[in-house]
Amino acid sequence: MALLYPNSPCCSILSLIGVFMAAVASMAAAQLSSTFYDSSCPDVLTTIQTAVQDAVNQEARMGASLLRLHFHDCFVNGCDGSVLLDDTANFTGEKTAPPNNNSIRGFDVVDTIKSQVEALCPQVVSCADILAVAARDAVVALGGPSWTVQLGRRDATTASFSTASSDLPSPLLSLSGLISAFSNKGLSTTDMVALSGGHTIGQARCVSFRNRIYNENNINPSFATSTQANCPSVAGNGDDTLSPLDVQSPTIFDNFYFQGLVNQTGLLHSDQQLFNGGSTDSLVSTYSTDMAGFFNAFAAAMVNMGNISPLTGSNGEIRINCRTIN
Ligand code: HEM
Ligand SMILES: *[C@@H]1O[C@H](CO)[C@@H](O)[C@H](O)[C@H]1NC(C)=O
Ligand SMILES: *[C@@H]1O[C@H](CO)[C@@H](O)[C@H](O)[C@H]1NC(C)=O
Ligand SMILES: *[C@@H]1O[C@H](CO)[C@@H](O)[C@H](O)[C@H]1NC(C)=O
Repeated sequence: MALLYPNSPCCSILSLIGVFMAAVASMAAAQLSSTFYDSSCPDVLTTIQTAVQDAVNQEARMGASLLRLHFHDCFVNGCDGSVLLDDTANFTGEKTAPPNNNSIRGFDVVDTIKSQVEALCPQVVSCADILAVAARDAVVALGGPSWTVQLGRRDATTASFSTASSDLPSPLLSLSGLISAFSNKGLSTTDMVALSGGHTIGQARCVSFRNRIYNENNINPSFATSTQANCPSVAGNGDDTLSPLDVQSPTIFDNFYFQGLVNQTGLLHSDQQLFNGGSTDSLVSTYSTDMAGFFNAFAAAMVNMGNISPLTGSNGEIRINCRTIN
């Protein structure tokens, strides 16, 4: 397998669409509000927070998985719950697109939250908003920063396998490719670096970093050797074996991911691109020594990401079951 994800090549039309979508996103974002459910479902936030805390207590990695679900939702036609739709006999959604297949997880936790929220306030709270709140609560549960989540997103009645395949960034991207992938969604390079700090928690499969640990030079040699022990060099062997994205503290949301990049222990090619002699080196250095600075930037960037092209007003629907349209 030469290409990890068969991303379509970027072109200027795509960049223009990105700028256009960013403009649409900022217009629609004005319709989101932190008080959206205050009268229609006053207990929704504490209900989600308790369910996320329970899930993280059972398995710390679930916090990482929930954070990633919100990211993979927002980067594919906006934060609209599209990532949650199951494939059916006559519908192919996003779950089997290469960046997601055998990789994204947490759907059972989302189902549990959704059924609790439906019991509280039937057909009021969207699946897209549940993902946005759960992502924040997961970060807090693992020791990270908090922020006020903007609410009022509605759920898509469709999903896109092809956009999930093309718009979710591949771990093989260069720094300029990463900058473009985020700017196409209206996010700055600072947002991109801060959001990459989400890799301070969670795990990746051998298939996602094999080439890096065997063939790259900008890697700490003892880190390469120890990681190789869990990821055989021959493709097809141990592809699904996991390694932590932040080798120092994979279940704590801290700034050690950035310390790791300075130490050349970034697990993914894309991670180490952020500290490889390029324009983002200074930001990585800063975050590696300034945890509060990273936390502030991460919180702001999560709000920006959550504002990507939401469905509001009478667009979309409030799904009853996050896996299916009504
Ligand atoms: C900058 C571009 C990014 C790339 C190329 C990227 C790529 C990846 C890859 C390849 C994995 C491992 C998947 C696997 O092997 O199964 C992963 C995991 C993860 N990503 Fe990213 N990612 C990026 C940005 C983000 C962002 C913006 C967030 C959230 C703010 C995020 C959160 C996570 C988390 C938490 C995990 C671990 C999930 C788990 O353990 O279940 N990533 N990412
Ligand atoms: C898909 O099949 C289901 C029944 O299995 C049907 O209710 C639904 O309308 C079909 N959807 C489309 C888009 O054809
Ligand atoms: C998803 O993964 C399964 C199991 O590894 C595989 O059989 C299937 O072909 C993959 N789907 C796509 C669309 O790549
Ligand atoms: C740098 O990485 C090596 C190899 O993983 C590790 O032993 C060492 O503790 C790391 N140092 C710092 C300062 O992170």
